[in-house]
Order: sequence, then C-alpha cells, then structure tokens
Amino acid sequence: MARAEVLIIGVSKQARRRGIGSILLKHAEEFAKERGAYCLFMMTYAEDYDVIAFYGKNGFIPVATLPDVYGQTLEGNVFLRKIIR
Ligand SMILES: CC(C)(COP(=O)(O)OP(=O)(O)OC[C@H]1O[C@@H](n2cnc3c(N)ncnc32)[C@H](O)[C@@H]1OP(=O)(O)O)[C@@H](O)C(=O)NCCC(=O)NCCS
Repeated sequence: MARAEVLIIGVSKQARRRGIGSILLKHAEEFAKERGAYCLFMMTYAEDYDVIAFYGKNGFIPVATLPDVYGQTLEGNVFLRKIIR
C-alpha cells in the first residue's frame, strides 16, 4: 500500500492560529486517502517545537529522527506520521 508525504506546508504569518493550517492538512489527508494511501508523512526541523505541536494537535505521531542533517551543531529532522482512517 502507498504512503504519502507533504513536503511543505505554510500559512502567512498574519493568518496563523486561525485553523487554516489544519484545514490544509485535512485536505492533504483526504487527497492522499482518496488515492489509496494508508498514511501521511510530514517532516520538520527537530527544534521547531511550534510546528511539532501543530502536527501533534492534528494527530501526527513522531516516528523517526535523522540527526546531523544540517551539521553537528544543529538538530536534524523529525518525521511524523498519521495513519489515515
Ligand atoms: C505550521 C503552520 C502551517 C501552522 O498553521 P496555522 O494556520 O497557524 O495552524 P492552526 O491555526 O491550524 O493550528 C492548529 C493548532 O496547532 C497548534 N499550533 C499551531 N501553531 C502553533 C504555535 N506557533 N505554537 C504552539 N502551537 C501551535 C495549536 O495547538 C493550534 O491550535 P490552537 O490555535 O487552537 O491552540 C504555520 O505556523 C506556518 O506556516 N509555519 C511556518 C512554515 C512551517 O514551518 N511549515 C512546516 C514545515 S514544512
């Protein structure tokens, strides 16, 4: 079965915290589901606590980390996944 991934998601600074990001994410979820994907992956910088909170609020679970992507002095990436039901 297929897996899907959203590479980039963004909402203008002045329009954040009004539910728009969640609507976009839900749309991506439905889009992937209709095409037979059983899960949706997201990836972000591991120190982006706000973004990780946003994904968590939307039901995404951290499933993997990849350290040293940006060098030894920075955090790497965290991968989050949601099983689409
Ligand atoms: C991440 C992003 C898309 C969220 O969009 P948004 O429209 O602000 O998100 P929502 O309004 O749907 O937020 C839903 C919930 O997520 C959580 N959340 C969202 N932004 C948050 C923040 N800055 N800090 C803490 N929690 C946050 C909250 O629980 C929020 O619910 P609440 O407002 O009722 O508390 C937006 O902040 C953004 O464009 N960031 C810059 C780009 C980026 O980093 N993209 C992700 C990596 S590709």
